[in-house]
Amino acid sequence: MTKAKQEWIDTAVAALDKAYVPYSHFPVGACLVTKEDEIYQGLNIENASYGLSNCAERTAIFKAVSEGKRAFKHLVVAGHTPEPISPCGACRQVIVEFCEADMPVTLLGDDGAVKETTVEELLPYYFTNKDL
Ligand code: THU
Repeated sequence: MTKAKQEWIDTAVAALDKAYVPYSHFPVGACLVTKEDEIYQGLNIENASYGLSNCAERTAIFKAVSEGKRAFKHLVVAGHTPEPISPCGACRQVIVEFCEADMPVTLLGDDGAVKETTVEELLPYYFTNKDL
């Protein structure tokens, strides 16, 4: 484990305590890393109108993209789950929009549960602008 990767993991895990989850009580944290080694923390933000809730992954991606960032090299997602957290389908599609297919993704759960995967493994036969 590199020192940098440990920081990305710590950032995603720290986000769990900041998630705004009064309805689901299911916090999710994320850390998106740019190719220039900047890190963007994300967490889920829910709403009394449940469908307006925003996932942790999309919070991190939208924060970074709204700051003009377009090139990413790693995503970490953390949940308080027995197995490594599984990103939702909507987030997988948004990840595909901004991250290369072979970009590594680290999924974390409680008690050291970890799955190392990639963008394409999360969303095989993905849809992008090349398909338009
Ligand atoms: N959630 C995420 O933040 N990321 C995912 O990939 C899975 C689901 C959030 C949405 C909602 O706030 C809560 O988890 C329960 O669905």
